[in-house]
Amino acid sequence: FTSFTYQHDQLFAESASLIEIAKEFGTPCYVYSRAALMAAYQEFHRAFAGRDHLICYAVKANSNLAILNILARLGSGFDIVSGGELQRVLKAGGDPQKIVFSGVGKNQDEMRAALTAGILCFNVESEMELLNLNQLAKEMNTIAPVSLRVNPDVDAKTHPYISTGLKENKFGIPMAEAERIYHTAAHELTHVRITGLDCHIGSQLTEIDPFIEASSKMLALLDRLENQGIHIEHLDLGGGLGIRYHQESPPPIEDYVTALCSRVGQRKQRILIEPGRSLVGNTGLLLTRVEYLKHAPHRNFAIVDAAMNDLMRPALYDAYHEILPVVKKSGGVNTYQVVGPVCETGDFLGHDRQLSLTQDDLLAVMSTGAYGMSMSSNYNTRPRAAEIMVDGHAIHLIRARETIEQLIAPEKILD
Ligand code: LLP
Repeated sequence: FTSFTYQHDQLFAESASLIEIAKEFGTPCYVYSRAALMAAYQEFHRAFAGRDHLICYAVKANSNLAILNILARLGSGFDIVSGGELQRVLKAGGDPQKIVFSGVGKNQDEMRAALTAGILCFNVESEMELLNLNQLAKEMNTIAPVSLRVNPDVDAKTHPYISTGLKENKFGIPMAEAERIYHTAAHELTHVRITGLDCHIGSQLTEIDPFIEASSKMLALLDRLENQGIHIEHLDLGGGLGIRYHQESPPPIEDYVTALCSRVGQRKQRILIEPGRSLVGNTGLLLTRVEYLKHAPHRNFAIVDAAMNDLMRPALYDAYHEILPVVKKSGGVNTYQVVGPVCETGDFLGHDRQLSLTQDDLLAVMSTGAYGMSMSSNYNTRPRAAEIMVDGHAIHLIRARETIEQLIAPEKILD
């Protein structure tokens, strides 16, 4: 974590003290590093080295407006999956001509909003969606730019809940039907224009091979389509590059991009990718405070003020996040179950962690920049955490902690 380092046994976010942040904004809160975010984007960008490309950040990983705006200012594009994400990107200053719209269940309102905004491309996931989009575009007297998301039937070798490229998954159009549907789009539908070809095989991939296998299948299809006179302007190879949470060793961004580019070879198509986690995952941490220590027979519990509603990944995928003390101490190490206040046994942030703890200590749950805040909820009527962006010494509140009043305001009691 290049932006999160110890200085004299105290953990800092860039040049900002986490102790100060906790004092000023309270806990739990997410803390992000602007430098780390910009560095990750630049690493992707540089690796494309002159090749025509567009990095479309997968907004679902972390959709805070400040993060979207920093990426937009760097020239990033965006991969959205809802009308809500569209509004966020536009509000954050994103260029509509750099937006691709993914998702199996886009509804009519969302499609209309995207057509009105003039996005770069709809990543269409079924024949029915294509027909629907054609009809809507016709009613709006416009042409919808489309790419078919094809399911390459590749094993991404990742957690089954986040694997998307196997033929039994709900995503994409089966390879065997892709050509027929491209022909329908090209020759029968008057209000769609084919611009691209797309796939996405899963998330948190730690090997390059599945990406190469999927790219090879996509390129073979692309060549067949071009031979049949169907011109493809861009090839979208999706997201999915993993990060290091614990002992994984995913390929470096540069190796991944270079491998994709060399597979595409001399072909002229613009390359799109949709990274989420690999852009933001290691640029954030969740800052939490120890409320109570509790010693049950054979188990020590550290009950902290962050919970599964703040960070769902451990409960949902049994995901591992490193948990670091904000102040390093010597001695008195115990094995702790780090758990939250929510009334479920699944409410844990980490099992069997070796820590030296006393009440009120601060802990940092690492690698939580992606799918942390964006998957949070209000379960147990817990207001969602504050979000803070550090930039050198500067500390910016980019989302205020929710209040209970805000949570219950939309609700109504019967007369
Ligand atoms: N493109 C599409 C069409 C996607 O469905 C996704 C993620 C991405 C791009 C970005 O993938 P990434 O580069 O972040 O791996 N909540 C899970 C991850 C779900 C990913 C869903 N799709 C987690 O916390 O691990």
